[in-house]
Amino acid sequence: MERWVGKLAIVTGVSSGIGEAITRALVGNGVNVLGLARREDKLKELSKKLEKSKGSFHYAKCDVRQEKDILNAFTLAENKFGGINILVNNAGIATSGVITDTTTENFEAVLDVNVLAPAICIREAIKSMRKNKKEGHIFNINSVAGLRATAAGIPLHIYPASKFALRGMTENLRVELAKNKDIIRLTSIYPGLVKTEILEKGNVGNKIFDLVPYLETKDISDSLIFALSAPPNVQLEDLVITPTASMKA
Ligand SMILES: NC(=O)c1ccc[n+]([C@@H]2O[C@H](COP(=O)([O-])OP(=O)(O)OC[C@H]3O[C@@H](n4cnc5c(N)ncnc54)[C@H](OP(=O)(O)O)[C@@H]3O)[C@@H](O)[C@H]2O)c1
Repeated sequence: MERWVGKLAIVTGVSSGIGEAITRALVGNGVNVLGLARREDKLKELSKKLEKSKGSFHYAKCDVRQEKDILNAFTLAENKFGGINILVNNAGIATSGVITDTTTENFEAVLDVNVLAPAICIREAIKSMRKNKKEGHIFNINSVAGLRATAAGIPLHIYPASKFALRGMTENLRVELAKNKDIIRLTSIYPGLVKTEILEKGNVGNKIFDLVPYLETKDISDSLIFALSAPPNVQLEDLVITPTASMKA
């Protein structure tokens, strides 16, 4: 991890769950994080908690459905920190429901947050890494639902499709990076069930955590640090992480 100490990471969706755990792990290892999310009270709270850490934590209130919010964050990263080395596309939403009973607004929200926002962030991150000639690492937090659409076992309308799209985008980007000989690694993380707020927010509820095995957020952040710590010539492409004794991803 030594080579990442003092470098800047942009992490989306840091105000709870997996994004918060990833932020704690990065900052704890000496990385500076610019964290993005909408809930400013949560961002302030996290900032307080991370005050005495090895790395520094900065935040920008950002709705990733608003392109200008994302662009402002990247401009801040450029002007204040001289660009970024690490991007973690983590922000995501999963609302329950069958396709035949879901509104178009709901479809749009899932596509905006889970697909379009990562695409915009990836574009801006790569521009910054190339311009500043920085070694880069991009992480996309996918899901086992991005490998097998019925993996979650509950109706999540276009959530699996959004994660399949993120996987397609990642695979296509890998070709672009290789052709351009960029020193930018690309890792997709595919978690199974993790105990976070996401299902409660998506009207699925929390009962599932009494019924099946689940992961803690730290299990995902540990894996991200593992991939980031690999030597410069080693790229961990896909990490599929499921709780022990869960069904096949
Ligand atoms: N939990 C699981 O079982 C599981 C399994 C597989 C994959 N995942 C993936 O893991 C990622 C993180 O999810 P989580 O489980 O940690 O959920 P979470 O606790 O609900 O966290 C989601 C984060 O995304 C942010 N976010 C949502 N909409 C946003 C928007 N419009 N603009 C900016 N930020 C937004 C939220 O911040 P604000 O609300 O403050 O904006 C929050 O920080 C997602 O991509 C999810 O698909 C989760």
